[in-house]
Amino acid sequence: MPEPSPTLPDDPFRGRRPTSHERMTGLPWDASYRRDDPAPWDIGHPQPAIVRLASEGGFARTVLDAGCGTGENTLHLAALGLPVLGVDVAETALAIAREKAAARALSAEFAPADAFHLDRLGRMFETVLDCGLFHAFDRDERPEYVTSLASVTKHDGTLYVLCFSDAGPDTGPHPVTEQELRAAFDHSNGWNVVALKPDRVQTRFHDHNGAPAWLATIRRL
Ligand SMILES: C[S@@+](CC[C@H](N)C(=O)[O-])C[C@H]1O[C@@H](n2cnc3c(N)ncnc32)[C@H](O)[C@@H]1O
Repeated sequence: MPEPSPTLPDDPFRGRRPTSHERMTGLPWDASYRRDDPAPWDIGHPQPAIVRLASEGGFARTVLDAGCGTGENTLHLAALGLPVLGVDVAETALAIAREKAAARALSAEFAPADAFHLDRLGRMFETVLDCGLFHAFDRDERPEYVTSLASVTKHDGTLYVLCFSDAGPDTGPHPVTEQELRAAFDHSNGWNVVALKPDRVQTRFHDHNGAPAWLATIRRL
């Protein structure tokens, strides 16, 4: 296990170790945003599943977008008038997101944060969105992440997880099974999966129909 890098006490990334994805690729998440071409998940518009969810009134104030990337989902919610904070470990992604917000005259907030220590934000949210982050963590990482999500989701608040699923052909990387999702969020750790529906996630390496996904609606007990 790599040693955590020395950091200042108020550094939001203090004690952070490379995630399984970073160990596998040998690169920090930020490197995905410093290439000439956009990252495979960085599709340049919000995920259709999130747009639909928002149009159905799924997002109540206040919203946290965990692992927001360059902020398309965050900015879509901000454009609807919701107070929304997007957080990410990749400072380059956050800089791009802030530039987009300024260009679109939107007041979304973006901040650096480690998804394993969301409690350090010192804030609670009615709605939390995870679009493509849960599935990037391996089974050993997920319990700590789920605890971290619980620390910022208000009682009776809602967490949405949109992740690659194993249901169907042409799956995305790290497809998640229904059992894995249900096991990660259950009554014993303060969650109730109220809906788990097949959906799609668009990427730059799938056609317009995207990849098989789960959209989980999870209530904080
Ligand atoms: C697959 S991308 C999805 C980005 C965005 N939600 C979207 O839909 O375009 C996963 C994002 O999670 C971020 N991330 C990974 N590990 C993280 C961590 N420990 N804390 C905060 N963000 C993290 C990555 O930098 C990346 O932007």
